[in-house]
Amino acid sequence: MKNMMYSQAYEAAREKARALLSKMTLTEKIGQLSQFGTSIYSDNEQRFEDHFSEGKVGSYLTIKGAGKTNGIQKDLLKATRTPIPALFADDVIHGYRTTFPTPLAQSCSWDPELTRQCNGIAAKEAYRAGLKWTFAPMVDIARDPRWGRIMEGYGEDTYLCSRFAEAAVRGFQGDGDRPGKDHIYACMKHYAAYGACVGGRDYNTADMSPQTLQDVYLPPFRAGVEAGAATVMSAFNDVNGVPATANRYLLKDVLREQFGFRGFVVSDAGAIGELIAHGYAEDGGDAAEKAFNAGVDMVMAGDLYNDTFPALIKEGKIKEEDVDESVFSILTLKYFIGLFDEPYVDPSGEDCFFCPEHRAAARKAGAECAVLLENDGILPLSGVKSVALAGPLSSEEGKHHLLGGWSCSSDSAYTVSIKDGLTAALPGARVDVLPCDRFDGVTEENIEKAAQAAKGYDVIVACVGETAFMSGEAASRSELGLPGLQEKLVLALCATGKPVVCLVSSGRPLVLTGIKDKVNALMMIWQPGTEAGNSVADLLTGRVCPSGRLTASFPYRAGQIPVYYNHTSTGRPALGNWVFESKYRDCQIEPLYPFGYGGSYTNFEFSDISISSDSMSADGCIDVSLTVRNVGSYAGADVVQIYVRDLVGSRVRPVKELKAFEKVFLRPGESKRVKIPLPASRLAFTGVDMKQTVEPGKFFLWVSERSDDERYKFEFEVN
Ligand code: NOJ
Repeated sequence: MKNMMYSQAYEAAREKARALLSKMTLTEKIGQLSQFGTSIYSDNEQRFEDHFSEGKVGSYLTIKGAGKTNGIQKDLLKATRTPIPALFADDVIHGYRTTFPTPLAQSCSWDPELTRQCNGIAAKEAYRAGLKWTFAPMVDIARDPRWGRIMEGYGEDTYLCSRFAEAAVRGFQGDGDRPGKDHIYACMKHYAAYGACVGGRDYNTADMSPQTLQDVYLPPFRAGVEAGAATVMSAFNDVNGVPATANRYLLKDVLREQFGFRGFVVSDAGAIGELIAHGYAEDGGDAAEKAFNAGVDMVMAGDLYNDTFPALIKEGKIKEEDVDESVFSILTLKYFIGLFDEPYVDPSGEDCFFCPEHRAAARKAGAECAVLLENDGILPLSGVKSVALAGPLSSEEGKHHLLGGWSCSSDSAYTVSIKDGLTAALPGARVDVLPCDRFDGVTEENIEKAAQAAKGYDVIVACVGETAFMSGEAASRSELGLPGLQEKLVLALCATGKPVVCLVSSGRPLVLTGIKDKVNALMMIWQPGTEAGNSVADLLTGRVCPSGRLTASFPYRAGQIPVYYNHTSTGRPALGNWVFESKYRDCQIEPLYPFGYGGSYTNFEFSDISISSDSMSADGCIDVSLTVRNVGSYAGADVVQIYVRDLVGSRVRPVKELKAFEKVFLRPGESKRVKIPLPASRLAFTGVDMKQTVEPGKFFLWVSERSDDERYKFEFEVN
């Protein structure tokens, strides 16, 4: 795989950076390690002009638009002794202005290419606004839906997340030898293990075996580094007692030595200062020293390095050569992306925001990420003359929330509501919005009014779920049902006897147990973005056949959490044979919907399934071959999922793990022969001695349509 961080163009940028470095004062060098300016962390958008003349600013975050970035850049370059343009950064998480489905939703497409395309467009729009750097992708494995940031990543599975990490990085940075025009640097975050915060509480402790860290939480970062990710963000949490932002093992031994990372590391916002609250540093100077010596090159949001480094260097606590190395990496990336040649952007480039091409991509993505959970045949809708829309996500208020969290630069004025999308898709039909169309309007009284009114329609579409702020940063939840009285609303609509299609929009898996068997159809639309209403209409009318598959298990009840499919084997698995098994007394052990699950309007059949050999060497490969046929009447896509179980290991192995997958699109009646390689290297794990090995022995292999599908099982051996 091509990695631009090892290209000749990168070497050329290094040469230029080395030459510039030799001309800089110490103050200027430290300035390059400092990032400022945000409307989130202060009331005003601070420009830190007083820092310009001394060269104390290396980067800015969350400054919006070409006008502003150009303006600041111009003032900065005019005022400094050694003109070094600032690198402008922002959280471009799922689109910049045109907004795509959230990353968790994108992973449900099981199509990394979709993410590459979405991020390519996001990068283009961000670049046109003067940005050269995004704080994305988030590649934290998340097995706990109480954690609001599960929406920002690619779900619970390490293999799947790694494939999306590569695609996300390539989308932002491009596939060339350097990120040219319309591409921006990626920043993989939050390094590391942030998704394992205890109890799903944001910013909290992650405590796990070093083997789990290596095998479950780190591989997506490695995949992103190998795809060329230019930067990495250190996380807020501690990992096994050492804060990630002062964790030399993670930042140097693993990231640089083991993974070969060549870019630079930025702290999360304020995370260095927080080493004091962690009880890991005494004061700002101690915190700066510990973070920098551990490998954090740039401080996000503040003067901590500017203020403390001169004394720390004098006292010999940090070395000037190390400062030089960090500055060198940052300058190299500034040259590499062409910032010195073109420090400004042409504001007319912003014309591409919300352009038809970008909107079309958002519409397609919105439909591809939805997951059909239930359908008794009501979908796709046909011959419908009147539709009653109910619930807070159905019309004007819903528009904003359908963009989802971290849609910081988007605009709900450009967003298509579900009402508008359906009205356009069903010409001649009456599409009305019933009471309860605002979050604060879902009251007992309005529920009754809505249920009464709904009786006069052919079909009811309930649009329920979370607000945009209920997931994302600092948005942990302890209850995962539909918020407020929304479940009551859905049940009241079902009680009318009219068919109910329930669309659920949220940033995380919810507990949908109470409505699952009551509605006629249930679809997870996540937070689809700018084209939400059109994407939904495409799905409801059958213009697009649902093909999403869950990438995070949906709990039956919140008390099961963490519930994920690839848990390790226990001595007493829940086989239902006796009472003393690993299970609950008051609830099923299985999730409501497992990883890999999702419905369609059509059906697929697997046949002629085989594996090329029932044995391979530790550096060998076997091929899984099968024919997939669309036996239904809609064109659509199925996802072939290959799971493996290592039967006996020197450490207890997971009950099964995804090791390969392929999405196959087929027209009705069409079939395709699919060959999926499974290299033995994917079976490696970290042993008690911390060495990664592929152990000889027997394995099960399942060719599946979801993680609990065990119809097609094979056995092979590694020798
Ligand atoms: C804090 C968040 O944890 C991080 O993900 C984000 O990129 C920064 N703030 C900047 O907004």
